[in-house]
Amino acid sequence: MKQNTPLGIVIAVGNQKGGTGKTTNSVHIAAALGLRGYRCLIVDLDPAAGATRHLGVPENSFAGSLELLTTDETVQTLAITEGMPKGVHLVPSRPQLSELDVVLSKFVDRTCILDQPLALARQLYDFVFLDTPPSAAAITTVAAYASSEWFLLSAFPHPLSLGGLTEAFNDIADVRARRNPELEVLGIVFTNVDGRATRLKAELDAVVSEAMPGRRFSTVISQAVIIPMLSGKGKTLFQLPKHDRIRVARQYKQLAAEVEHRVLNRDAYLSGELEELPRLSVAPVVVADELDAALAMG
Ligand SMILES: Nc1ncnc2c1ncn2[C@@H]1O[C@H](COP(=O)(O)OP(=O)(O)O)[C@@H](O)[C@H]1O
Ligand SMILES: [Mg+2]
Repeated sequence: MKQNTPLGIVIAVGNQKGGTGKTTNSVHIAAALGLRGYRCLIVDLDPAAGATRHLGVPENSFAGSLELLTTDETVQTLAITEGMPKGVHLVPSRPQLSELDVVLSKFVDRTCILDQPLALARQLYDFVFLDTPPSAAAITTVAAYASSEWFLLSAFPHPLSLGGLTEAFNDIADVRARRNPELEVLGIVFTNVDGRATRLKAELDAVVSEAMPGRRFSTVISQAVIIPMLSGKGKTLFQLPKHDRIRVARQYKQLAAEVEHRVLNRDAYLSGELEELPRLSVAPVVVADELDAALAMG
């Protein structure tokens, strides 16, 4: 639980492909850790500003990651704290972030642009989530991988994602070799999982066990129509009444518990000796309940 000295853990949430759950995972893992009493910051590093919208911040209304990377403003002056889920602050993004390359001085080393902003963030927060854009070559992606200690890989099981996973593993190996040997894989989470796609899941499991044994999270996040509905409304699952009855909300709490368990027991995890948390017993989903709850939110 929360300690007086912040843990100061930085987690890059990545996958070079778009639409693989990066934003949904950043927002909900942070929100679930916030409910556990941790101080969390999400830095939206994507000009598409998915996390910003998901947290209900109107587009273009605030300075954010562009200023964080190009001015003297800090996470302290830029983080939005009002109207956020419990324990969560947000450095928002907006489309102008795509002009970062032009705005940055020619003489700045682009891989280091997050070092200084994150130094302060580590002093203030337990967990900092870097939500990256869907391109491994984007300046913010490279900078996020270069200055994090953990990498959380988010993947949708899809026949095409097999190749994407291998590409992601290669990117991680490349960052470690060339730039940031400290970067460790916190876990691979499969999300948007259709319970019927068992063969596909088994194939993906095999790819992960081969390339990154022991690194998959045991929690998988089910496919749930409520998630796109809520993101469109700028809300998280945990803002729903009776969210404990909603399967994906419980899965995100379990996933957050796994994140906490691995981070707090880093050495045992990295040496393959960490025991997994007991599996969550999942109540049967009642889809109508989820939809009713979403509709009740307006
Ligand atoms: N578990 C899920 N069930 C159904 N839809 C999901 C789930 N997770 C994410 N989505 C939806 O899939 C789309 C892509 O997810 P997103 O988190 O934005 O991915 P990324 O940030 O990698 O582009 C979004 O519309 C999101 O609402
Ligand atoms: Mg995104």
